[in-house]
Amino acid sequence: MRSLIDITDFSTAELDALIKSACDISKHPKRYAKKCRGKTLATLFFEPSTRTRLSFEAAMLELGGNVLGFSDADSSSAAKGESISDTAKVVSCYADIIAMRHFKEGAAYVAANAATVPIINAGDGGHCHPTQTLADLLTIYRHKGGFDNLTVGFCGDLKYGRTVHSAIAALSRYKNVKVVLISPEELKLPDYIKTENMANMQYTETTSLSSVIGSLDILYMTRIQRERFDDASVYERLKDSYILTPKKLEKAKADMCILHPLPRVNEISVAVDDDPRACYFEQALNGKYMRMALILKFLKHKKEKENSEESNLIKNKIFCQNPKCVTQTEQEIEHIFKADKTQGICRCIYCDTQSQQKEEL
Ligand code: CP
Repeated sequence: MRSLIDITDFSTAELDALIKSACDISKHPKRYAKKCRGKTLATLFFEPSTRTRLSFEAAMLELGGNVLGFSDADSSSAAKGESISDTAKVVSCYADIIAMRHFKEGAAYVAANAATVPIINAGDGGHCHPTQTLADLLTIYRHKGGFDNLTVGFCGDLKYGRTVHSAIAALSRYKNVKVVLISPEELKLPDYIKTENMANMQYTETTSLSSVIGSLDILYMTRIQRERFDDASVYERLKDSYILTPKKLEKAKADMCILHPLPRVNEISVAVDDDPRACYFEQALNGKYMRMALILKFLKHKKEKENSEESNLIKNKIFCQNPKCVTQTEQEIEHIFKADKTQGICRCIYCDTQSQQKEEL
């Protein structure tokens, strides 16, 4: 059963086809109005959401399908201790496809292993958010006509910002994309993303937005993710690190696109909303079209074969040390690590944390 857990589950050709499909859906919505008649999408949201959940639901409704689900873990049987695996198995009996958001890193992978219908990762803790990347890609495509040769600045919380992790993984597929990482020292991009996704990308790191803004084709602002901090005082110190204002934009290119996955707190001044370079509300709309294209893809190709990497998997010999990994709380779960023999390392299949136990290779 094919699922979308990480944006790299899709090839570049598949991403390009989704963009093409979303463009067609946005131009000819009536042609798609009955495509999912008789099908049901379940939205299982264990964490708050406005855009992702509602755009998934709007997407399915505009395709003529049905939606069911919950928007709060406390209103589901997770509050009584039900596991993610059991929830996924049960909801597979009621729906043809499931979009799930969870606060634990790797939760979507657990659900995909148990479900009998496709699982779409709608955000797993600070790890990944592949469908936000679909919205980001369509927005960039519509403004720049493609992705090759762009200089993209990611600004804010690059440590916990799951949308950044997925966007970089997607952009690494294209030619000569340069990335500028702008963050406080404490919120730098995790090393595993640099190793896994950026080996062939040119990138620089800085703490200063104003020193690099003039070089950017895309500025991707992010919120400092209060809910991911273990120490509230660190959040308080960092929360106002970057605030984009019309004054700061004076040095930016006239055709730079400003993206933000939203919600924003204060990192983009409301005064910027009227600037023609502000694309973040359009990005939210594009999210709906890309999710329509995604639902259609999965329901059309339900039997597409699984991408099996069984021979590189190490099962139940290594245990993940990341306290935010889903393996710390899910009952009777397989502990699976993926070996990268060329680098001599292995990573937790759920949250990508690297193991220190090299002897297993
Ligand atoms: N961009 C995004 O994931 O927004 P929500 O948290 O509102 O879904």
